[in-house]
Order: sequence, then structure tokens, then C-alpha cells
Amino acid sequence: MKIVEAKGVTKRFMGAKVLDDVTLDIKIGEQIAMMGPNGAGKTTLVRAILGFYHLDGGRIRVDGYNPVKERVKVLEKISFIPQLPPPVKLSVSELLTFVQRSTGARKERIISQAEAMELDIEKHVEKPFFKLSGGMKQKLLIAIALARRSRLLVFDEPTANLDPKAREQFYGLLESLDYEHASIFITHRLEEVEGLVNRKIYMDLGKVVEDERI
Ligand SMILES: Nc1ncnc2c1ncn2[C@@H]1O[C@H](COP(=O)(O)OP(=O)(O)OP(=O)(O)O)[C@@H](O)[C@H]1O
Ligand SMILES: [Mg+2]
Repeated sequence: MKIVEAKGVTKRFMGAKVLDDVTLDIKIGEQIAMMGPNGAGKTTLVRAILGFYHLDGGRIRVDGYNPVKERVKVLEKISFIPQLPPPVKLSVSELLTFVQRSTGARKERIISQAEAMELDIEKHVEKPFFKLSGGMKQKLLIAIALARRSRLLVFDEPTANLDPKAREQFYGLLESLDYEHASIFITHRLEEVEGLVNRKIYMDLGKVVEDERI
């Protein structure tokens, strides 16, 4: 089953083509490493899949929905861990309540996923999210993403702030996901995700230059 269909996707920023005629389907069961040099368009492509941008050409569907016009439907399907954590002012406790209300992901599940990466949420519930350390933010965002049990998981360099042990724990959690889903890992370190992925996509200059199923 296709979860993402992108056809001829083109996006310009200030005249420059950042995505140049990208055509790509993603099926449930695919675990994808997305690679390519800085500025290749990787983050822009996943943000387009999430409906952040009006396209200059082509179309994207997520489970049949238009990410711009049917954003709520699309965001229900996707868990996204951004490259840089958002500057959330809510306390950790408020954030968990908000996530539970808006996505149905149970707080207890988020807490147990975080525990598996040695983040003791109970100790930090009163803190505003933005005052957590970089790695703690990342762990909490990962725990939320995994607790949502989304059909599509998108990780934009998720391990950049994690210590080596937390990285291992994160990959362990991914391996233990027990439901049908697809994932995109944007990464500069293929060796880290190599054991997890069955497809590799390379982007350069806004184009998919290699797409290999393994
Ligand atoms: N909102 C924006 N306005 C203007 N230019 C943008 C915007 N977002 C991205 N770009 C430009 O688009 C190009 C691709 O950026 P993108 O963030 O998609 O690259 P990337 O492949 O994710 O790179 P990295 O590996 O550094 O994260 C860059 O030249 C960037 O400056
Ligand atoms: Mg990026």
C-alpha cells in the first residue's frame, strides 16, 4: 500500500529550484535512508510531504490526501522528528497533555518509550520543553513519535544530539515497533541506519539521483 505518492514535485525558494521534478512513491513496509549533501533538498522534501509548502509544480498525496488542503488528515498519519527541536514554551507535563489530547498517544506510553532511552520524564515535568538539554528534547520527541504509532515516521537526523548509548536504545526501539509502517531516516551516517533500512535514496541539487531497494 502506498503511503506517499509524489509526482514531478518542484519547489522554488527565491527563484532557485530546491526541489526539481521529484517523483517518488513510498509503500508501507519501506524503511528508507535518505541521504545527500547539505542543501540537497532533503528537509524541504519531507516538509513538503507534511504540507508546509505550496508546490510550484507536481503533486503529493499522503494516504490519498493532499498535504496542503487536508493537512489535519495528513498530520494524523505522520510522526515527524524535525532536524531542530521546535521552541516549545509549554512545560513537559503540558506538552504531554497536549499530545495526548491532539493525537491520542497515551502519556504512559510516551513515558515508557522515553524510559527506554534513559530519560526519566517524571523528573522534568515542570520544566519548559525548551529548557531541556538538546539530547533530552530529542528523546522526548522520539518517545512522542513512537507512542503515536503513526503509519509514516519521518526522522530528520534524529540522532545528532544523542549520546552513543541513547542511539543504540533508539535503534532498539525502532526494531521493536510491532505494527505496519514506513519510515524515512534523513541521515549523513548511513552506517547507523544500515541494519534498519531496505531502501536508500540519494538526493542532490533538488533531485533524486539514486533510489535503490535492498
Ligand atoms: N524557507 C526557505 N526559504 C528559502 N530557502 C530555503 C528555505 N528552506 C530551504 N531553503 C533552501 O533550500 C535548499 C535546500 O535546503 P534543505 O534544508 O532542504 O537541505 P537539506 O538537504 O536538508 O540539507 P542539510 O543536510 O544541510 O540538512 C537550501 O539551499 C536552503 O537554503
Ligand atoms: Mg536538512
